Amino acid sequence: MQLRILILAAGRGTRMRSSLPKVLQPLAGRPLLDHVIDVAEALEPTGVHVVYGFGGDQVMAAMEHRTVEWHEQAEQLGTGHAVDQAMSAVSDDDIVLVLYGDVPLIQEETLQQLVHLAGENALALLTVKLDNPYGYGRIVRDARGHVLSIVEEKDTNTEQRDINEVNTGVLACKGGLLRGWINSLENKNSQGEYYLTDVVALAVAADVPVHAFVTANVEEAFGINDKKHLAEAEAMFRRRITNELLTQGVTLVDPLRVDVRGNLQCGQDVYIDTNVTFIGDVKLGDGVQVGPNCVITDSQIEDGTIIYPNCVIEQAHFGPRCLIGPFVRVRPQTYLGSEVKLGNFVEVKKSNIAKGSKVNHLSYVGDTTMGEKCNLGAGTITCNYDGVNKHKTLLHDGVFVGSGTQLVAPVEIGEGAFIGAGSVITQEAPAGKLTIGRGRQVTVDGWKKPEKNKK
Ligand code: UD1
Ligand code: MG
Repeated sequence: MQLRILILAAGRGTRMRSSLPKVLQPLAGRPLLDHVIDVAEALEPTGVHVVYGFGGDQVMAAMEHRTVEWHEQAEQLGTGHAVDQAMSAVSDDDIVLVLYGDVPLIQEETLQQLVHLAGENALALLTVKLDNPYGYGRIVRDARGHVLSIVEEKDTNTEQRDINEVNTGVLACKGGLLRGWINSLENKNSQGEYYLTDVVALAVAADVPVHAFVTANVEEAFGINDKKHLAEAEAMFRRRITNELLTQGVTLVDPLRVDVRGNLQCGQDVYIDTNVTFIGDVKLGDGVQVGPNCVITDSQIEDGTIIYPNCVIEQAHFGPRCLIGPFVRVRPQTYLGSEVKLGNFVEVKKSNIAKGSKVNHLSYVGDTTMGEKCNLGAGTITCNYDGVNKHKTLLHDGVFVGSGTQLVAPVEIGEGAFIGAGSVITQEAPAGKLTIGRGRQVTVDGWKKPEKNKK
């Protein structure tokens, strides 16, 4: 048995009122379609086939990192017509699972059950009961509870409108069966479209068993058609992730105010305060604390490091027991050893700072290698850019730099050197000595305060 998954992603998504195609709208920082492809791949199918149409170039470019087969639907004539565009890739013996690009919270285990049902020459359908079924296709059953058909919202009569069991859009069956039904779809309905949902009535007419699998998880059926739905899905996704984190023993001061847009791995006794956003792959070691209003992207923070409020950290690796912030900005390729301190209003970029060094106030450290136990005074700036090229600064172990100093790169400061406050250092400063590079202070005798000019 070969499994082929078709993902319908050609629609414009008019209700989004956006120039971005619907399936590229972001959920937890990634396109809706990316989430659907994730769950499709988890089933290890023979092929994942995406039907594209509106904004096709944009959609394919955004999904460049994925291995899927693309099928164009030049005109969006309905979900049934969309499926037809990919049928050439399907053999009669394949099991076809259809997913919608705008139903991103669907779960792998549920899909597995549908695939299993479809294997028995049946049409398997995923449905859900909703308090407010508005907008969805309704599942019409006979008196004995057998599924008869799906009726779209716009085609319902008053009686059908009250049905609260709805179509999630997900269905599965053998390729041969689906092909026959797709070929006989008609578009005689209120929207003039070829509805995929009409295959249900065709299956019933052909005496093929229709198994509706009713999921109890309302969220996984959630179809996203407008920005209101998108915000609701974001909240659902957040809850899913924060529940996992809480189960793992992470302390979240307020699970409603943590956003994970990617993968967050946490050790034991991690504490995360309010309004923290994690982007991409972030790893926090045991006992790491993250203060309010931090944004951490693609970084690793080792055991016991504390990040105080309002820090923005990207592509960094912090060793254990560092103290970071408040108000620190760490830019890509920054590596801190253990017990490093970065204090208020400090920016670090593409630098290595070794164990126990401190940059506590108002500094810029860029393209720098700093040894152990260095201390950069307030307002120390590495002048790494000459207007054309970037240059490196090298500080050996135990360097002390007085406040308000500018280190004009390329420059090297020897082990244990002291630099006087307010220096502009343009040449190598030798180890173990005091180097000062500033104008001498003079006091002018006989100086008089200027007087105002008379007119
Ligand atoms: C569809 C179902 C409805 C179900 C609901 C679940 C049909 C006819 N209706 O309605 O029964 O309750 O989803 O969310 O299937 N698409 C194409 N080509 C097209 C039209 C749509 O690829 O020509 C894609 C869209 O990009 C989208 C998906 O199919 O990803 C569903 O289309 P949408 O217009 O959102 O259908 P709904 O009105 O939500
Ligand atoms: Mg929809």
